[in-house]
Amino acid sequence: MSTTFTLDTSTSRAHPLPEPVRRLTVPAIARRKGGEPIVMLTAYTARMAQLLDKHCDLLLVGDSLGQVIYGLDTTVKVTLEMMIAHGAAVVRGSYRAVVVIDLPFGSYEASPEQAFETAARVLKETGAAAVKLEGGAVMAPTVSFLSARGIPVMAHVGLTPQAVNALGGYGARGRSEAEAAKILDDARAVAAAGAFALVVEGVVEPLGRAITEAVACPTIGIGASTQCDGQVLVVDDMLGMFERVPRFVERFDNMAERIDAAAAAYAEAVRARRFPTEKQLYS
Ligand code: KIV
Repeated sequence: MSTTFTLDTSTSRAHPLPEPVRRLTVPAIARRKGGEPIVMLTAYTARMAQLLDKHCDLLLVGDSLGQVIYGLDTTVKVTLEMMIAHGAAVVRGSYRAVVVIDLPFGSYEASPEQAFETAARVLKETGAAAVKLEGGAVMAPTVSFLSARGIPVMAHVGLTPQAVNALGGYGARGRSEAEAAKILDDARAVAAAGAFALVVEGVVEPLGRAITEAVACPTIGIGASTQCDGQVLVVDDMLGMFERVPRFVERFDNMAERIDAAAAAYAEAVRARRFPTEKQLYS
């Protein structure tokens, strides 16, 4: 599959004119249990979505954008308006991948009805296909309520960053037998409630494997297990945009260093009056 880029003179930005491409669907993802590994990355902007789309089955507009894009200390402060603005941009920039949008903290936990109102607004205003929410057994009635009303839900168990204030940090979960059993129950509950897929974040490996074996829907791991049905990373982590490299991250590039070098070269060229040259000027 190829994407042709032409210059859209109304915006002066590369604007893709894709060949007809059918977007993957939520049921097609749900059927991938035990099959070809599912590839998911986060995306927050239209341009990044354009670049990632052909490589990914799922693009997640994660509330990690609070930290990655907005420099917030936790995801707790992320608003619904942020998620909708970035979600719509990612849908505009993608053609093939299923776009999933995180429901931000405080926008869905109070009741299934609150979650429905929020999720319906997210799908209407962005064009995305599904929402993701954090939480285990306590969120199962909400997962079931949304799924029964036509809103596909990706659930998220294990380390749930929106609960950082209750958890006390971002350490791996499931180290004690009791905690592992609770997280396994959580995973079973949201899967049985109708989640089409399940993010398993930051758990000890045997638990990631046990969850994958225990639930009928695909699991998508991040710091979980090689045995998950798919994997996800925050795209900026994968690209090497941050100095801090958590254990579960592999850097596939070192873009922070490359941006630093490019900015230094630009600054040097401006100061030395080597940029612009005649080539960049209008005669
Ligand atoms: O917000 C996010 O980016 C996520 C992924 C890390 C799974 O939830």
